[in-house]
Amino acid sequence: MLKSKIAGIGHYVPDKVVTNDDLAKVMDTSDEWIRERTGIEQRRYGVKHKQTTTTMGVEAAKIAIERAGITKDEIDFIIFATLSPDYYFPGCGVLLQRELGITKTEVGALDIRNQCSGFIYGLSIADQFVKTGMYKNILLVGSEMHSMGLEYTTKGRNVTVIFGDGAGAAVIQPTEEGEEGILTTHLHSDGTYAEKLSFINPGSHGGYHFDKMGESVDFGYADTEYGEIFVNKHMIDNAQIYPHMEGQFVFKMAVKKFPEVIMEALAKTGYQPSDIDMLIPHQANLRISQFVQKIMKLEDSKVWNNIQKYGNTTAASIPIALCEAVEAGAVKKGDLVCLAAFGSGFTWGSALLKW
Ligand SMILES: CC(C)(COP(=O)(O)OP(=O)(O)OC[C@H]1O[C@@H](n2cnc3c(N)ncnc32)[C@H](O)[C@@H]1OP(=O)(O)O)[C@@H](O)C(=O)NCCC(=O)NCCS
Repeated sequence: MLKSKIAGIGHYVPDKVVTNDDLAKVMDTSDEWIRERTGIEQRRYGVKHKQTTTTMGVEAAKIAIERAGITKDEIDFIIFATLSPDYYFPGCGVLLQRELGITKTEVGALDIRNQCSGFIYGLSIADQFVKTGMYKNILLVGSEMHSMGLEYTTKGRNVTVIFGDGAGAAVIQPTEEGEEGILTTHLHSDGTYAEKLSFINPGSHGGYHFDKMGESVDFGYADTEYGEIFVNKHMIDNAQIYPHMEGQFVFKMAVKKFPEVIMEALAKTGYQPSDIDMLIPHQANLRISQFVQKIMKLEDSKVWNNIQKYGNTTAASIPIALCEAVEAGAVKKGDLVCLAAFGSGFTWGSALLKW
């Protein structure tokens, strides 16, 4: 069977820098609190009404395609991971296809919603397609424009200070060269805690009641004579249209699941933690990454952290970090690279690759 590899990687972050002090102007928070609890110093925000999750993904994709040594017309499948899509539907995959100008080939575009684990889920899907010979140049994109959907008040501070915008992309190709490529991927989820880190509205759980259509019904918080609408006044007034996070619960799960899933990948391939040349953890919180580093007994130079600059960019965080590490020469040919993520769902996963 064929193996697959990341043949090209790119990333894009918008120019606008938003510091902790900038956020402290609109909510009760401080640079000291944010740095101490998360390690974050600043994040990037896209330009409202000009940039979107898709357009940022396109910028990252162009770089990945060029570095893979192919043209856009050679892409034979698209996977787009995001939790902050341009539209409720259709997904960003087809929008990216259109923006990149590759509609003539009519290749498939798959959107995946695995939040912070999105890139690893996407990588695993791409790996399976390439290994079976179905596709030769899969474009995998992780992109987020969180800034459009955050609550810029003290009520939303525990979530808002963490997230930032950005995009990363990779081209996955087959390889027959020695040990090079994706060695293993591992995907997990536990829906028991789905609401602990969630963005609930708008959603089908609270949408239009078909059987009541046309009647004047009091749903308790109806804002029209027809009952609930997709997003209603109650949701807006009660901040139910923003992300919700039980931070400490998420933190505790993350520090358990990161080491577990990394060890699973190492066990499958016969490697030890000390064999890892570079661990790229999803950038959720610097304290989480430092905890994982300690458990795995890795030196500072073997763990890539950039959350200080970008905050948590969810599906984009791993490809941005991997791209930066490669550009900095910190990931070299032949290195054993471990990617690991944990996030909303809960979903988590790992991938081990020989660069
Ligand atoms: C979000 C997180 C940084 C919060 O840190 P924490 O130590 O758990 O803080 P808590 O939520 O318990 O809140 C402690 C206090 O700080 C306050 N607080 C929350 N956010 C704040 C902010 N941005 N600025 C100042 N105070 C804040 C809380 O209101 C609370 O105040 P109280 O004690 O008066 O009630 C932390 O829980 C975390 O990182 N969790 C994991 C998040 C994560 O990884 N998410 C993405 C997963 S992919």
